[in-house]
Amino acid sequence: MKTRILGNQGLEVSELGLGCMGLTFGYGPATDEKEAVNLIRNAYDSGITFFDTAEAYSQGGNESLVGKAVQPFRDKVVIATKFGFQDGDATKGLDSRPERIRQVAENSLRFLQTDYIDLFYQHRVDPNVPIEDVAGTIQDLIKEGKIRHWGLSEAGVETIRKAHAIHPVAALQSEYSLFYREPEKEIIPALEELGIGFVPFSPLGKGFLTGSINDQTKFDKDDFRNIVPRFSEENRKANQALVDLLQDIAQIKEATPAQIALAWLLAQKPFIAPIPGTTKIHRLQENIGATNIELTQEDLLQIEEMASKITILGARYPQHLQERVGK
Ligand SMILES: NC(=O)c1ccc[n+]([C@@H]2O[C@H](COP(=O)([O-])OP(=O)(O)OC[C@H]3O[C@@H](n4cnc5c(N)ncnc54)[C@H](OP(=O)(O)O)[C@@H]3O)[C@@H](O)[C@H]2O)c1
Repeated sequence: MKTRILGNQGLEVSELGLGCMGLTFGYGPATDEKEAVNLIRNAYDSGITFFDTAEAYSQGGNESLVGKAVQPFRDKVVIATKFGFQDGDATKGLDSRPERIRQVAENSLRFLQTDYIDLFYQHRVDPNVPIEDVAGTIQDLIKEGKIRHWGLSEAGVETIRKAHAIHPVAALQSEYSLFYREPEKEIIPALEELGIGFVPFSPLGKGFLTGSINDQTKFDKDDFRNIVPRFSEENRKANQALVDLLQDIAQIKEATPAQIALAWLLAQKPFIAPIPGTTKIHRLQENIGATNIELTQEDLLQIEEMASKITILGARYPQHLQERVGK
């Protein structure tokens, strides 16, 4: 698999990463550990060297899984994890106080069974802690060799600029896909100007863009999508037009909608490295297939024209979580 560089300090990652969240958190029951380890190792054997986790995914449980799985090839991969919630619990408030960042770093090193974190993201901007203090703490951790690069998630342009001025930010991780294109307005131009990489999360629109979800789909009781307005039954029905578009293009390119959704992201900018998540090896392999699909300028224009006629309905977060993004 080809690689891409995130940021101007040379962090090299496979062009597709693996989002590991759903293996233990967010979309229903955790995957059996042995199967999850197998999946992560299968990803590595297929060329993926970029693995995404966070303290807040099962309060260290997801990091432990990733750490265990990558143990045999730890020095060949980039592990990205995140800090920023009280007690590592995303249902509680934000907490990026310097002492808490340090504590999370130590915990993450232990859970990941490693002595350095390749990429440490602030999961959400904490309005109570100046970003200068966060960046300063990160700088100290870098000097101590505990982390190598840092990033932000769902931050606004102003925070990105301030953070980057203190210590170069390697990557921003925020939602981006044909399902959610807001970052095109201000965020992506700023990242391009500053030389910061972009790691789109939910690049398959939390599964919606793959065509495997429709208005009849019932989610597990613990599935986050139950509280996402965009995933209400009626909005799923309306938003199906976007899946139909992907299906049309997929047919022409002899691909699947998931592959077109990922190939489209890869075609947007050379500094983009999406991190689709799955719990199934056959889907992992399908997603990796996206790296062999080339969308021509003509294809991209066609997608653009078709997409411009579709209005996506429903917010991507319920109100209380929406308030945490774009700061
Ligand atoms: N920074 C943040 O705030 C933040 C927020 C959300 C996510 N993330 C990160 O981004 C990663 C990816 O995002 P995500 O998991 O939310 O969404 P995603 O990658 O857009 O979609 C994942 C969903 O799509 C399904 N799926 C994957 N490949 C498929 C295929 N080929 N065909 C049919 N269905 C497929 C998966 O189900 P199966 O498991 O059943 O295949 C899963 O339910 C996460 O793992 C996490 O690391 C970060």
